Amino acid sequence: MKTILVTGGAGFIGSDLVRRILSEEPDTSVLTYDLLTYAGNLDNLKSCIRDSRHRFARGDICDRERVGELLGSGEVSQIINLAAESHVDRSILGPKGFAETNVLGTVVLLEAAREAGIERFVQVSTDEVYGSLGSEGSFSEESPLAPSSPYSASKAAADHFVEAFGRTFGMDVVITRCSNNYGPFQFPEKLIPLMIRNAMNDEPLPIYGDGLQVRDWIHVGDHSRALLSVLKNGESGGIYNIGSGNERTNLDVVKSVLRVLGKPESLIRHIEDRPGHDRRYSMDASKIRAELDWQAEVEFERGIENTVQWYIDNRDWLESVITGEYRNYYSAWYSGGRTTG
Ligand code: NAD
Ligand code: DAU
Repeated sequence: MKTILVTGGAGFIGSDLVRRILSEEPDTSVLTYDLLTYAGNLDNLKSCIRDSRHRFARGDICDRERVGELLGSGEVSQIINLAAESHVDRSILGPKGFAETNVLGTVVLLEAAREAGIERFVQVSTDEVYGSLGSEGSFSEESPLAPSSPYSASKAAADHFVEAFGRTFGMDVVITRCSNNYGPFQFPEKLIPLMIRNAMNDEPLPIYGDGLQVRDWIHVGDHSRALLSVLKNGESGGIYNIGSGNERTNLDVVKSVLRVLGKPESLIRHIEDRPGHDRRYSMDASKIRAELDWQAEVEFERGIENTVQWYIDNRDWLESVITGEYRNYYSAWYSGGRTTG
């Protein structure tokens, strides 16, 4: 039986991937390695706890000794690295932690993977490394990297290290770059779950600037399916864009949430814009479609309805992640003139 190490597997996308591997790959075990930061939650893996093919280890990807021990036994043959600080606004408040986890942590994993002779290393990156687009065009895998935020700069730096380990040491590495995900178990600092929670509580919905920024929204299940496909069949050294071609303005997305919940648009508040806010992302995902026969399947309106329903049905989960840390973060973010009115 082969074992895949999924770092960040207690987070939003990582937990979806762990569940998918366990349900679709009967001859595969998963070792989830996660620090359980504010964004990691073992409740996200509740359905896997009793599965004998799943094991959880708590730890930091920056901890070279610990990572070396995990890989040293020879049990793990492949790694998918999703562990990261993932929220752009938090990277504006404190860039250093993003450099530590996203850059240094990736280098630590690469070093340990090389030492252990890991077969394949998949780095889960983001469309944000390409920077911002005007109203026309899409990012291809050849687009230059031009990150705007400390978060995307740290992801771009990690991508460079992954490619360098492939070229210099001949490691089998693959990079994926996906657009904005939504779905169950997403931490309510990100646009869609934040808007769902605020609307459910009849609280104001903070829209940065004019709200006409465009993102290409993809259901998390489509993303995890793409990751599994890249792990199994992606070309060594390759980069794969992942997107659904579902471009929407933030205002449109928020209005869809309000429609599904039957709440009024008067809850919307336009507030000060995010510094360095990228205007538009658009992914050309033709390579993964052609090479790996993958395409997004969840249509946005259906995906949003199911997602809103999930948060209604899982209100306990939603409230359980609202901790003192969350409140401190929001009071820091909304200090200094930024206000929801
Ligand atoms: P998330 O914040 O929900 O989960 C991140 C996980 O990493 C958490 O479980 C956290 O505990 C863990 N983690 C953080 N620091 C760690 C450390 N030092 N050591 C070990 N574990 C640590 O993030 P997500 O939205 O699920 O994103 C997962 C990955 O996918 C990230 O690498 C992110 O950059 C990338 N990505 C996200 C999106 C998106 O729309 N959310 C899109 C494209 C790519
Ligand atoms: O594009 C992929 C990226 O998507 C991932 O790499 C990141 O990990 C993930 O966090 C996400 O980044 P974004 O910054 O695009 O996601 P976020 O949900 O924070 O914001 C989506 C858009 O909504 C963005 O234009 C900012 C805007 N926004 C966000 C929040 C939280 C608001 O207008 N109001 C808000 O309160």
